[in-house]
Amino acid sequence: MTQHEGITRRGLLGLVGTTAAAAAVPLGGGSAAARTATTDVAVRVTVNGTATSLTADPRETLLDAVRERLALTGTKKGCDRGQCGACTVHVDGRRVVSCLTLLATLDGAAVTTIEGLADGDRLHPLQRAFIDHDGLQCGFCTSGQIMSAAAVIEEDRARTDEEIREQMSGNICRCSAYPGILAAIRQARTEER
Ligand code: FES
Ligand code: FES
Repeated sequence: MTQHEGITRRGLLGLVGTTAAAAAVPLGGGSAAARTATTDVAVRVTVNGTATSLTADPRETLLDAVRERLALTGTKKGCDRGQCGACTVHVDGRRVVSCLTLLATLDGAAVTTIEGLADGDRLHPLQRAFIDHDGLQCGFCTSGQIMSAAAVIEEDRARTDEEIREQMSGNICRCSAYPGILAAIRQARTEER
């Protein structure tokens, strides 16, 4: 008798039922009681210069908060798992991928999104440079590219083309607008010096 012949129809149905029940358990495997035990927390953040108070589910990402609750949709959701850089924003002046940053951890922080980069009607030098050098095609990655580049220039890590490529390697452009992006950062770096 083979191994498969040893499984009866009744046994197989029982096995399928067990597997289906297991698959119905939510990710994380928590009980209903455990799931409802999460408690919202109060978070005060300054977003693009405006003090903002929010009540946050501890699982809520900064990306979802800025897009869905603050209507700052310039920040894009690409992969939602820290691999593309499309969601890059600044927290206390440092670039972060907002899809992996929990809002609840940001009490007291200052967040800057692409909407906060320009000075009123005056574009940031990087925004002008991306236009000058066609540093975009579809534009989906562009806000993340610009936010990363702004931090890289601020940190003085854009001294050579090689360094720019290395520092910007976490920002993926599916349209391959890389030559324009590089030229734009080069121009903005020079302007900001
Ligand atoms: Fe955050 Fe891709 S959406 S890194
Ligand atoms: Fe289309 Fe970069 S411009 S993904």
